[in-house]
Amino acid sequence: MIRIVEVGPRDGLQSEKTTIPTDVKVAYIDALSSAGLQEIEAGAFVSPRWVPQLADAEAVFQKIRRAPGVTYSALVPNLQGLERAVTARVDKVAVFTAASETFNRHNINATIEESIARFGPVIAEARRRRLPVRGYVSTAFWCPYEGRISPERAVEVCRRLADAGVDEISVGDTIGKAAPAEVRAFLELARTVVPVERLAMHFHDTFHRAVENILESWKMGVMTFDSSAGGIGGCPYAPGASGNVATEAVVEALKQAGAEVRVDLAALAAARRIVAPALGRR
Ligand code: HMG
Ligand code: MG
Repeated sequence: MIRIVEVGPRDGLQSEKTTIPTDVKVAYIDALSSAGLQEIEAGAFVSPRWVPQLADAEAVFQKIRRAPGVTYSALVPNLQGLERAVTARVDKVAVFTAASETFNRHNINATIEESIARFGPVIAEARRRRLPVRGYVSTAFWCPYEGRISPERAVEVCRRLADAGVDEISVGDTIGKAAPAEVRAFLELARTVVPVERLAMHFHDTFHRAVENILESWKMGVMTFDSSAGGIGGCPYAPGASGNVATEAVVEALKQAGAEVRVDLAALAAARRIVAPALGRR
């Protein structure tokens, strides 16, 4: 069965300029919890100075109603983030680096090398606490600063994250510019380094190719996809990046292609209706 990681409450909200009240975030996540999604990325324990919108992650995690069978995960950039996440009782943490040095510097103020070194103690401590760890590789196809990223470069970062001990790797098309042929070339190489069961694909939809890219990835054996209800989202440190691919579109396209997907679209619509007014959208 397809696993959808709903990243709306984190990736969807992180770039929004107007502060969304904690209670709206909580109601939005609670609505998503009844959609049958396996995992919801519900926040980020990053520096509040870097991402003010998610500064209330503790309060959000404290107030949400946790549905049985749903994993509530969060980003952690360092040990300080992990400690906050543990206190907030997250179920799974995600460290994040990139295939592009320039993007990584803008996003987490570190080289790729430094970031992976920083993750060592984070992963060790998460292990000790029996928390699963996801590792993100952003700008795996295109970088807003460096342009095209070769599959060799992106796969090398995946390999290093796998060696560092992450359970799952989410491969990010951060600015939504990848073409299906590029996704295929990446996956052909990546599959030789990381078992495809441990790969997730994370597409933004700037050039409206995300659904095509997901179908291509699925044909190559990928079963986990990141998306956001209503397609909200973007990265504050990736100029031009638009929203994540819409969960609704992913569900429809994969179902039509014959994949088994169990997500309740009516519940997604209810979640959208809660968050849309706070984003100033219909
Ligand atoms: P830095 O400024 O180099 O950090 O930022 P520092 O270690 O020098 O610390 C500076 C200050 O930040 C200190 O406070 C720390 O305590 C505080 P001060 O002493 O000055 O008062 N600090 C923290 N506070 C709370 N929680 C923490 C934390 N860490 C330090 N965890 C840092 C380095 C990594 C912290 C910063 O760059 C950061 O938080 N970056 C996060 C940026 C971010 O969240 N970007 C968006 C997510 S990634 C993304 O969207 C891509 C993705 O969707 C996939 C894709 O699409 O490709 C995942
Ligand atoms: Mg993203």
